[in-house]
Amino acid sequence: MTMKAMVYEKYGLPDVLRIEETEIPKPKDDEVLLAVHAASVNSWDWDLLRGKPYINRIGGLRKPRYRILGADVAGTVVAAGAAVTRYRPGDEVFGDLSGCGWGGFAEYVCARETALTPKPAGLSFEQAAAIPQAAVLALQGMRDIGRLDKGCRVLINGAGGGVGTFAIQYAKWLGAEVTGVDRGDKLDLLRDVGADHVLDYAREDFAANGPRYDLILDVVGNRSAVEVRRALRPGGAYVMVGGSLPRILQTLLAAKPAAWLEKKNLAVLVHKPKHEDQLVWSDLAEAGHVKPVIDRLYTLNDAPRALAYFGEGRVRGKVVIAIRSTPSF
Ligand SMILES: NC(=O)c1ccc[n+]([C@@H]2O[C@H](COP(=O)([O-])OP(=O)(O)OC[C@H]3O[C@@H](n4cnc5c(N)ncnc54)[C@H](OP(=O)(O)O)[C@@H]3O)[C@@H](O)[C@H]2O)c1
Repeated sequence: MTMKAMVYEKYGLPDVLRIEETEIPKPKDDEVLLAVHAASVNSWDWDLLRGKPYINRIGGLRKPRYRILGADVAGTVVAAGAAVTRYRPGDEVFGDLSGCGWGGFAEYVCARETALTPKPAGLSFEQAAAIPQAAVLALQGMRDIGRLDKGCRVLINGAGGGVGTFAIQYAKWLGAEVTGVDRGDKLDLLRDVGADHVLDYAREDFAANGPRYDLILDVVGNRSAVEVRRALRPGGAYVMVGGSLPRILQTLLAAKPAAWLEKKNLAVLVHKPKHEDQLVWSDLAEAGHVKPVIDRLYTLNDAPRALAYFGEGRVRGKVVIAIRSTPSF
């Protein structure tokens, strides 16, 4: 039995991607086979496609380790391995497969049951597929490292993308005061999802002598450790979600002096896909407190164009590939 999938055999730009018929995978004992209804694009797909930064070639120095990209999926269980206890055929689920083999840009994928969470009934497959990686990064950064709480003053650098649009909504739901920084033409979107204050990164510098923040969630990682320390209140936290290797090292080196001298916590987030955290978002979405922001929907045949659009760097929220359902969001 075969399925349609977007595959690649060598690192490069989206023109190395092809839609092709390939074998439907067979689930191991602890896996389920999912009929994928929708999958969303993350920056990690883009990095693995290009094999850059080179750290993305771990396990695949010359040739991609995963022939089919796609970590964030939503779909229906069609078969379950012998040791699977949580799910049965017919269950609707969503999850992040970055810890268990990727492969979501296809009609079927195998997934470890622990990577999956029941899909909330009130969300479409496209909305559910937008959640896992971006929303969990936002949650782990703000809740676990940032200790975000009601009344905190939080700044999100790169607030108009996948992580940022979830982060704004979570912070507002908690009762924080939120400032979002992004490109000028995304500022209305930041306000729409709840930001109290917005800054255009081309015109305003959040690290200059303006307000200071209890928490800075940084998706971009383009500022020096000196600058982010200056923008924090004593006792505040800076969480680097993304950034270049030199910036990551700089943040790690600055962490101890910042903690000793100013009681400021500088940290680099390490992504951990987690069912319990996906459940937090599922509950928030089900209750109507957050809504995934979907910029564009593509079909599986057009999936290479979805990656190309992501690579242009203009995405508002998330890009989703509607694989077999009627697109809706
Ligand atoms: N820590 C981990 O374990 C882990 C795991 C996976 C991913 N990540 C990281 O997570 C991040 C992905 O986040 P995402 O999905 O939200 O990315 P995204 O959708 O690309 O969003 C990034 C946003 O930042 C904006 N931006 C670009 N330059 C900026 C600047 N100088 N100042 C402020 N905003 C700027 C972008 O706007 P424009 O481009 O339109 O200007 C875009 O809206 C990546 O950095 C990735 O490396 C981390």
